[in-house]
Amino acid sequence: MTVRPIVQIGDPALRRVADPVPVGEIGARWVQDLVDDLVDTMHDANGAGLAATQIDEPWRIAVMEVTHNPRYPYKPPIPLTIMVNPTLRAIGDESTAINEGCLSVPGLRGEVDRHVEVEVAWHDRVGDAHVARMRGVTAGTFQHECDHLDGRLFLDRVTDPTTFTTWDNYDRHHREAFEQRMHEYVARMGS
Ligand code: NI
Repeated sequence: MTVRPIVQIGDPALRRVADPVPVGEIGARWVQDLVDDLVDTMHDANGAGLAATQIDEPWRIAVMEVTHNPRYPYKPPIPLTIMVNPTLRAIGDESTAINEGCLSVPGLRGEVDRHVEVEVAWHDRVGDAHVARMRGVTAGTFQHECDHLDGRLFLDRVTDPTTFTTWDNYDRHHREAFEQRMHEYVARMGS
């Protein structure tokens, strides 16, 4: 088990467009080790997801898992998902504002417009191909992680900078209303 340092905003690693993993290499030791490090580091940081660019590795790999997470109590569960070379496309043109944070952006949250429904295709850690439609808050989490692989942070998508808030002020002034809105959103979307 290797918990790796998570690079923080300002590090050029976060702005790199990651390279696809050659599909024939997915079973190779270096890819398997990288996947293990991502999962261990995500768990250690109590995050909902982590992309390889966040541990300074320029490969298109991201991992996600949501169990009950006090950082994000409104997020529906996502089983441990390992995505190699994920691609994502929007279904329809509906979007919704989601208040996001990021392990690479310490202390800050802000509101981002995310597609309500997306189709995601990826390879898992043994190379099997998957395609799935995601909706609601879960779709937002997938969009956040795929953005990392293109060198994008949630900050780039905050259209109203007055929504930026520290976590303390989020807890104090915004959490209750946001979690209520997300609770209703998840009930409507089913995820
Ligand atoms: Ni992030």
